[in-house]
Amino acid sequence: MEKLVSSWSINVQSLPENYVRPPGQRPGKLIVPSCKSLPVVDLGKATSPDRAETIQKILEASWEFGFFQVINHGVSDDLINEGRSIFSEFFNMPAEDKASLYSTDIDKSCILYTSNLNYDIEEVHLWRDNLRHPCHPLEEYVQFWPEKPTKYREVVGAFSVEVRKLSLKILDLISEGLGLEQGFFGGELSKGQLMSVNHYPRCPDPSLTLGLPKHIDPCLIAVLLQGDVDGLQVYKDGQWLGVEPLPYAFVINIGHQLEVISNGKLRGAEHRVVTNPREARTTPTTFINPSPDCVIQPAEALVNASNPPLYKAFKFIDYFKTFTAANGDPETALNPYKLQA
Ligand code: OGA
Ligand code: NI
Repeated sequence: MEKLVSSWSINVQSLPENYVRPPGQRPGKLIVPSCKSLPVVDLGKATSPDRAETIQKILEASWEFGFFQVINHGVSDDLINEGRSIFSEFFNMPAEDKASLYSTDIDKSCILYTSNLNYDIEEVHLWRDNLRHPCHPLEEYVQFWPEKPTKYREVVGAFSVEVRKLSLKILDLISEGLGLEQGFFGGELSKGQLMSVNHYPRCPDPSLTLGLPKHIDPCLIAVLLQGDVDGLQVYKDGQWLGVEPLPYAFVINIGHQLEVISNGKLRGAEHRVVTNPREARTTPTTFINPSPDCVIQPAEALVNASNPPLYKAFKFIDYFKTFTAANGDPETALNPYKLQA
């Protein structure tokens, strides 16, 4: 239990050696250019007469950055505030209240761990704790969620339902923009919903360590609440750019599955998280995932003689195993499925 950074780091003045990354992997300077050009999409305009323009903005952002933010998304400010407080409250509970959930068994329905699942054998740890559990269908999973704080299940249940609606709305806009049939991403492609809450405690030396190393998300799309503390950076054109925190906006990013299904028209971008010297950062991320046996391949409508498929078909579960074995390394995970264009 003492492994959780949130449980031992409160009064720590210097970064323990096993959190210091090798020189080539240190973030170094923390002030990176803020990604001012990262599009902010107003979903209030997803109806006519602005619908086509909104869809275009989403597609361009998904191609150029693999990331965009959304406002007027339908999740109320009150629910966002409640969600943010309950997740912070969870990580601020005394160590003994978190102990029963500690596990690195990825097959369990609710786990709390620190750094990576391979904590016991890795040389350098990440400055983060992670709580994760499936959310959909709610009735099937809510019983496994944390019992403390007492309102956790109620608040996170309501939050997950609303974030699911938002995710499906965005997927509908993407499918319309790509010219796919209506409801393309419904059903098995978006059946899985995983809540992954990262907590990055205040860090004594953010220049030497990372909250999350460079990765691409293995999901269909990710819907993240960054709140008001920065830390998320996107790699673009050879440099790291900070994603500006907009407190009530959601950050959306394209996962590997959507890159494959769109046959490379949308792309998953590499991103990482740096820690903060002044305050803790807690970011609930919803991963929308295909069901394990779902077959992922470039959509038929997007493949023709001049656009040959860039990827072979695979089962999501098989990809996920490669991803886990590659410890989140994006190239290694997708390489076995790439075809020569
Ligand atoms: C992730 C991720 C970013 C953040 O969980 O995959 O990229 O800001 N999180 O916590
Ligand atoms: Ni990520």
